Amino acid sequence: MIDFAQKPLILAPMAGFSDLPFREVVKKFNADLTISEMISSNALVYESKKTLKMLEKSSLESPYIVQIAGSDKEVIKKAVCMLNDLEFIDGIDFNCGCPVNKVIKQNAGSALLLNLELLKSLVSTIKMYSKKKSISVKFRLGFEEKIPDQIAQACEQAGADFISIHARTRKQLYSGKADYEGILKAKQAVKIPVVANGDISFENAKEVLAFTQSDALMIGRASIGKPWIFYEIKNDQKISETLKKEIISFHFEAMLKHYGEQGVKLFRKHLHEYSKGYKGASAFRDKINRCENAKAMQQELEAFF
Ligand SMILES: Cc1cc2nc3c(=O)[nH]c(=O)nc-3n(C[C@H](O)[C@H](O)[C@H](O)COP(=O)(O)O)c2cc1C
Repeated sequence: MIDFAQKPLILAPMAGFSDLPFREVVKKFNADLTISEMISSNALVYESKKTLKMLEKSSLESPYIVQIAGSDKEVIKKAVCMLNDLEFIDGIDFNCGCPVNKVIKQNAGSALLLNLELLKSLVSTIKMYSKKKSISVKFRLGFEEKIPDQIAQACEQAGADFISIHARTRKQLYSGKADYEGILKAKQAVKIPVVANGDISFENAKEVLAFTQSDALMIGRASIGKPWIFYEIKNDQKISETLKKEIISFHFEAMLKHYGEQGVKLFRKHLHEYSKGYKGASAFRDKINRCENAKAMQQELEAFF
């Protein structure tokens, strides 16, 4: 399903950012693979309207992976069976990296790095019940102690087709430097493809790929406000300012199409990011924070960029 020989570029799952409209934009700019925001297996089983909407994909997304989180075997099994019925989903990714307390309290996300037996049995459960083309796991280097090789092996033994590693521990949250040696250590411990993640940018992408010997790169924050980064890395060339304006407008239209008028409020955070580095950005942000309808926001956007 994924040609790792081509060293693909993957958009990282990011709650609140990597929704359908954003993924549609990055797909237009050469991202090879997109993954949904994290979806709780509990919420999936409950089948709330909001959760079902989060599963939707753009026609440009192929392959498309949905990321689930959880720690209860029965619930995860039910969630997988439910995803099996949705043919447009090509793969399931299991979240073992989320550092948020609410998730950890439920023994999910990065808490699973403290219990590799449980992690293994949950990944095995997904593997056993999934009818999808791929099963993957995304994790950090460890909870406090760095044990990337052990985690990687646990995932491989449980049947993961590939793994993605955020080069930080849970304790680090998002601070401190990404430790790419940790990714290299994991890569040397397994045979399945390894995806490197953490602080990857236009500037360091090739270096990280070479140093970690990994099979793909996953980019998160560097794509927020710069969804064209995938194109830039692939072509070793920055995009033009005119094109940026077109992309921002396209993103806004996609938001309105997906969310209706609610898209106006949800697009504010993206405009904050898009405007970074521009003269007058602070006044622009003030204005768009007060925009309540699509027409007003479109006018502000046209005038500013
Ligand atoms: C706002 C935000 C939301 C995130 N949500 C998720 C998520 O839903 N699932 C997940 O596995 N990781 C999530 N992450 C972590 C990213 O996928 C990624 O591992 C991390 O940001 C490091 O990569 P980067 O430096 O390229 O951003 C999130 C990160 C951010 C900043």
